[in-house]
Amino acid sequence: MSERKPLMVGNWKMNASHLEAIQMVQKLAYRLETEDYQRAEVVVAPAFTALRSVQLTIEQDHMLIGLAAQDCHWEESGAFTGEVSAPMLAKLACRYVIVGHSERRRMFGETDEIVNKKARAVLANGMSPIICVGETLEEREAGDAEQVVTSQVKAAMSRLDQPGEVVVAYEPVWAIGTGRNALPDDAGLMAEIIRDKIREAHGSDVADRVRILYGGSVNPGNIKDFMAKKHIDGALVGGASLDPDQFAAIVRYWR
Ligand code: PGA
Repeated sequence: MSERKPLMVGNWKMNASHLEAIQMVQKLAYRLETEDYQRAEVVVAPAFTALRSVQLTIEQDHMLIGLAAQDCHWEESGAFTGEVSAPMLAKLACRYVIVGHSERRRMFGETDEIVNKKARAVLANGMSPIICVGETLEEREAGDAEQVVTSQVKAAMSRLDQPGEVVVAYEPVWAIGTGRNALPDDAGLMAEIIRDKIREAHGSDVADRVRILYGGSVNPGNIKDFMAKKHIDGALVGGASLDPDQFAAIVRYWR
């Protein structure tokens, strides 16, 4: 079984100008020490308009923080006004691209098929997709959570050239931005179900390698309980990642 390095991703969503983003990444780096980076991979996902500034800040200050984008288009270039392509993001030294966030699925009509196309574009450009999956409250209450999540995973990961490079973020929709996190036991169980599904479709090497994150109202007070779960390898953090003190405390959950 391969060792999976914990991955902590701060999803800043539609927050922070490029000037504010520079300050946020500087404050975060100031709070983290070498040992923190040895224990966990730390990544921030600013808005498109801040990616270049944050990239340069990271490079100039030799920070060990990685960069992610929040979305991309699946085509390499063309007449898609307002869109940003995976090759553009690769040129900005992004390591990751979040795809299929529930806010995009819900508000912008992203289907499993679109999420799969985006994941393939991200991989084709040498980055890793962070594929978001998760059930709504109605689906959970109807007992459909497992079926919904596994079918999202299956669709998003179908026909990928390098499925082992993928990160999956399990984010129950009802837990995002609500202050109401999933129970660590439930999230841990879902992560195990996701890994089993990946094993079934892609084999053990891939399943043991893929990192599975939990997301949804993660904070410094609950992160430890999620990280204690065998199949949870990190967190996708929204609200709490906007505060460098809180995000640093999440990264250093083991202290
Ligand atoms: P939250 O968002 O931490 O604010 O709940 C998580 C996410 O949307 O990735």
